[in-house]
Amino acid sequence: MNEHIRKLKEQLGDQLVIPAHHYQKQEIIACADIIGDSYKLAVDVSSTDAEFIVFCGVRFMAEGAAILAKKHQKIILPAPDAGCPMADMISLSQAENAMRKIHEFSGYSAIPVVYMNAYGNIKALSGQYGGSVCTSSNAKKIMIHYLRNNSPVFFLPDYCLGINTARELSLSDEQIAIVRQDCTIETTGKPENIKLFLWDGNCRVHQRFTTKHIERIRDEHPGIRVVVHPEVRESVAAAADSAGSTQYMYNIIQESPAGSIWGVGTEYNFVSRVSADFPDKHIFPIFESRCGNMEKTNIKNLQNMLESITEAALQVQYPDHIITVSESVRKDAAQALKNMIAIVQRS
Ligand code: 13P
Ligand code: SF4
Repeated sequence: MNEHIRKLKEQLGDQLVIPAHHYQKQEIIACADIIGDSYKLAVDVSSTDAEFIVFCGVRFMAEGAAILAKKHQKIILPAPDAGCPMADMISLSQAENAMRKIHEFSGYSAIPVVYMNAYGNIKALSGQYGGSVCTSSNAKKIMIHYLRNNSPVFFLPDYCLGINTARELSLSDEQIAIVRQDCTIETTGKPENIKLFLWDGNCRVHQRFTTKHIERIRDEHPGIRVVVHPEVRESVAAAADSAGSTQYMYNIIQESPAGSIWGVGTEYNFVSRVSADFPDKHIFPIFESRCGNMEKTNIKNLQNMLESITEAALQVQYPDHIITVSESVRKDAAQALKNMIAIVQRS
């Protein structure tokens, strides 16, 4: 850790917590108090009492922390322009329109299951309709929970996580419909048989992976095991040996025997750090794809936040870095996040 940041952290003591998502650069990970996937960060951050939470990740993650924050806590994003193009792929009016169209199409009200990678107002919509947030680590459990109650699910905004989870649940094409960005619904199934409506969003970072990358890495490294994030295309997930959240990938590689060979299909900074963390294993990216938004957080903007907090000048110097949610959004979005945590902890 950079010496100046270490001193600032020491000065702030337990007033400060720095959570960092697994896709953050090594220089940020070295300064972090909590490292994890979106689910682990949401749960661990919500159990801290620190007044200042300097969230090293992207906006929807910091917003999730703000939704669950206690009154005295401030959620601070070192790079306030660190967005997520996937989260931008659905607006509240599109989501509401899609809910209406699904009702007209099927005669049922679908339960909205919202991937964490969406903004607070979309999470709030889910809470209003009795739905839940999910992350890549628990999408299967959350979908099972609602499908068991015989309600069709409207999964948004990531088509790929939706379809890869549907395949794990053995849903057929006749049970799935796609809701396009203009809210038209496409399916080969009958309306009354549709169990899952999938919004047509995706992550550009994960769309870059192809089955050719997997074929090539398997040719180059006999015995390699390929693990991918479930935001990849369906064909890529099918060609891999397993798929799971960033924490799942970290754990499975950590627990594998020395000498294991891994091909990893997710953000490049993560792959390079896992490779440095486990030098006794051979770890390769199936292709180098970076999340430019995650890379917006750096030592300089992290340091600026900590200096400003110690000088009690945050509100004046960096008002746009303090992430807040309106009270109307907060209540319903918090319900949707709490529903996720309750379903995961029960199962
Ligand atoms: P995880 O929840 O698996 O960390 O994924 C978050 C994300 O944004 C992946 O692109
Ligand atoms: Fe968003 Fe994709 Fe970056 Fe994750 S990797 S934060 S989904 S753009």
